[in-house]
Order: sequence, then C-alpha cells, then structure tokens
Amino acid sequence: MKKDHKHTALESLASLCKRRGFIFQSSEIYGGINGFWDYGPLGSELKRNIRDHWWKTMVTSREDVVGLDASIIMHPRVWEASGHLGGFADPMVDCKDCKKRYKADGLCEEQGKELVKTEKGYEIPEGIVCTACGSNNLTEPREFNLMFKTYVGPVEDESAVAYLRPETAQGIFAQFANVVSTSRQKVPFGIAQIGKAFRNEINPRNYTFRSREFEQMELEFFIKPGTDEEWHAYWVNERLKWYEEIGLPAESLHKDVHPKEKLAHYASACTDVAYDFPFGRQELEGIAARGNFDLSQHQKFSGKSMEYFDQETNEKFVPHVVEPSAGVDRIALAVLCNAYAEEWIPKGDTEGGVIPAEPGAKRPPEGYEARTVLRFKPRIAPIKVAVFPLLKNKPELVAKAREVFDATRENWSTFWDQTGAIGRRYRRQDEIGTPFGVTVDFDTLEDDTVTVRERDSMQQQRISVSELQSYLRDAIA
Ligand code: GAP
Repeated sequence: MKKDHKHTALESLASLCKRRGFIFQSSEIYGGINGFWDYGPLGSELKRNIRDHWWKTMVTSREDVVGLDASIIMHPRVWEASGHLGGFADPMVDCKDCKKRYKADGLCEEQGKELVKTEKGYEIPEGIVCTACGSNNLTEPREFNLMFKTYVGPVEDESAVAYLRPETAQGIFAQFANVVSTSRQKVPFGIAQIGKAFRNEINPRNYTFRSREFEQMELEFFIKPGTDEEWHAYWVNERLKWYEEIGLPAESLHKDVHPKEKLAHYASACTDVAYDFPFGRQELEGIAARGNFDLSQHQKFSGKSMEYFDQETNEKFVPHVVEPSAGVDRIALAVLCNAYAEEWIPKGDTEGGVIPAEPGAKRPPEGYEARTVLRFKPRIAPIKVAVFPLLKNKPELVAKAREVFDATRENWSTFWDQTGAIGRRYRRQDEIGTPFGVTVDFDTLEDDTVTVRERDSMQQQRISVSELQSYLRDAIA
C-alpha cells in the first residue's frame, strides 16, 4: 500500500508507544498474536486515568448511578437471550486464490459499494475483488460468530460450552433485579460497569482500534417508557462533554446519528461519538436507546420478573434503557493520536516560537531543534510531574530535590530523573507527555524556590517550595 502522511503519523506514534512503554504487541517474544495488545508502564497509567475519570463522572459524582463488577463468563443462556448466540455474527468472504479473509461489508465499502442483504443472507455486488491479489474469485459471504468459546469444568462436551463475554452490558441486565432490590435506587437510575470484552474479530486492524480483547465502559440507564428521547439526548450531550474534558477537541469529535431505517427493530435512537483518527473518522462510543428489549428477553428466557414497581404512580413496567457504551482502548488511542506532535523549537528550550515540524523534512531550520511531544491534558497524563536535581553529583541538591519529589509523589505520579543535561531530561519528559518539570538548582538552596517548566509553552517560572503543591493542584485540575 502506498504510504501516505496519515499512515506515517500512526506508524510514528506506534513506534513511540513501543519505545517509551505505552503499548507492546502481546506475546511479542513468540512473534505476537494478532488482535491482542499489552499496555506497558505508561500505557497502563494512561488507561487507568481514562477509566478513573469515567467512573468519577458517571458513578461517584452522581447520585443516580451505581457500579457493578460482573463475571466475564456467564451462563450461556445469557447469550441466547441477548441475541448474541443467534445474531452476533459478521458476514465474511474468502479469496479462493490467495486465501485472504475479509469482513464482507468492509471489503465492499472499500470499493465504494454496499454489501447486499438478501432473504437468505448476504450477497457480494458485481465487481468486488480481493484487494490483496485482485482476483474476483471470492466465496459467498458466510456468517461467523464473533464470540470466543470455551468449556467450563473438566469435560469438553456441548453441555460445558461457555463464552467469553462480547460486551459488559449483559452482566448489568442479568443483575438488574438484584441491584434494584439492594441499592435503593429508583427509576430513572443507572448501573455502570468497566471490564474486558472479547470478540473474535475477523480483521483486527488500525493498531489497537479493532482488537480481539478490549475494555468497555458501559452504562445502562433505566428509564420510564416514553422518556427515551429526552434521556437519549441528555446522555449524548453528557458524553460529548466528557470527551472534551479528557482533551479531545470539539472540532475532532462528531455526533453520527444512525438513520431510523438502520436501527435494530427495538431501538428508537442511536448516536455514535466519532473521532477523526489518522485513518479516518471512527466510532469511540455508541449511545443507544434500546427500549426494554434486553430486560424483556431476560425475563422471557429466565422466567424471572424484570418488572419495576413505581411507588409514586403505582405503575408496574419493564424499564426502557439508554446505553452509552465506550471502549477504553479506542479512547486511549484517540487521546494518543490527538496528543502526538512533532515540533521544531528554538534551541536551548527557550519559550515561544514553536513551529510544527514539516512532514518529511530531514532537519529543522538553523537555530531550531526537533522535539516530539505528547500534549496530554494534565488529568490524563500518565506522569504528572518530573523532578530534576540540576546536578547529580551535588549531594545537597539531590537531597533537596528528593524532599520535593517525596512531597509531590504523595499527590501525583511523579518521575525522578537526575541524569543528563537538563534540556535532554525535558525532552524525555515531553516525549511521554509529562506536563510539568520541577528543577532544583543552587538558588533553591538559597531562597527555597524551584523552577517549574510547563511542557507545551516551555515557559519557566520560579515557585516557592511551600506553594508548589497548591500550584500543581490548580494546574493539574
Ligand atoms: N453493549 C453495546 C456494545 O457493545 P458496540 O458498539 O459493539 O456496542 C461499544 O461496542 C464500544 O466498544 C465501541 O464503541 C468501541 O469503543 C468498543 N469496541 C467494540 N468492539 C471493539 C473492538 N473490537 N476493539 C476495540 N474496541 C471495541
């Protein structure tokens, strides 16, 4: 494939993520395994910050949402009731010549056509070819269930079959009645869950964007039938605000409204929050008004009532639900793509005069040096503060810097770096997105002030040690 600038941007980011410990290929020492990724020391902090901010916004700062942590493997009837056993399938086609396998809709879309739905299944329209070898010798589309199968217990027969959950949502529906009877919540209220989900995707691609193991953050917000439209609009709005809070700019975010004719028969609305990735505009989250399909299905399959009794109105009903469902890995990738910048800065780390690096240029103009920076919003940055003693061979500087380091790491993830020229230490922190660098120098020993350097502006200011923590608290919040 011809490499364009957008692919180079994703490749440069992936290479930085590997080099600096954000994301590694799973089982790399054995050649890797397609569709699985490991998050290194910085990547796991980044994901934790995303999860924590979601949980704080969606659960702990609200009175009408409670949390849940359900098991990954559930009774297989759950997946019959939810429709995943019968319907959670992607049509796929194989090239009979070179044996490459495709998601049928993706292959058609790439070639400007739409997969045709027929009464019996699907049909590939005229003219579609294998993008790898150009052959039009393709199989008929066949459905392929995306759930990973396993066996529970020692005997591997049909009665022991179970599935790794393909979404966290069903754990919430299956525990709806228990949560209602134990949490004193009243409709409208929500149950939230963060956890791993697994899908045997035919074509994992675009780095971590489509993986076979990933993490979801899902809220099921249970409402009175008839209030679907207003609650759906409310959650679309809330969720968009949240993305801006973690640093994704409004102009890169989109509300993709699903047309009514493409909605599932039980749904009344669905809006995706999409982001402009280097590989195109893609979904981060879906916000769906799903009626009472899920609870009704579980009521039917389990024989247990999912009805809610409204004491104020004396009404009994199966609540409807609005479901904002987001993927942690996709959000982490969006945050990384958005933060990544290659820049030319005036030599000597002086403030101002930053210019974006010219794509493809070998070196910066006279008087400038290149830097790579991750401009994370401070609340999401894996490391918030780095502390540097100016010289490592001056015990009194190191001791004072240690004091500052210990006080700072009580509050935030803090990095200690005492080796190399100070400019090189700044550069190392810029590359992993640390928003603040604190340098302890000889003046510190005289007047108890430190230099605080801000990552994006590279502005430096003297702050007294006694005010440092409250300065950082304001800046990070
Ligand atoms: N309960 C609804 C549900 O699971 P979905 O649109 O299939 O809806 C929700 O998934 C979110 O989960 C997506 O918007 C995406 O962020 C994430 N997601 C889904 N499949 C994924 C995959 N293969 N790799 C990474 N993230 C995925």
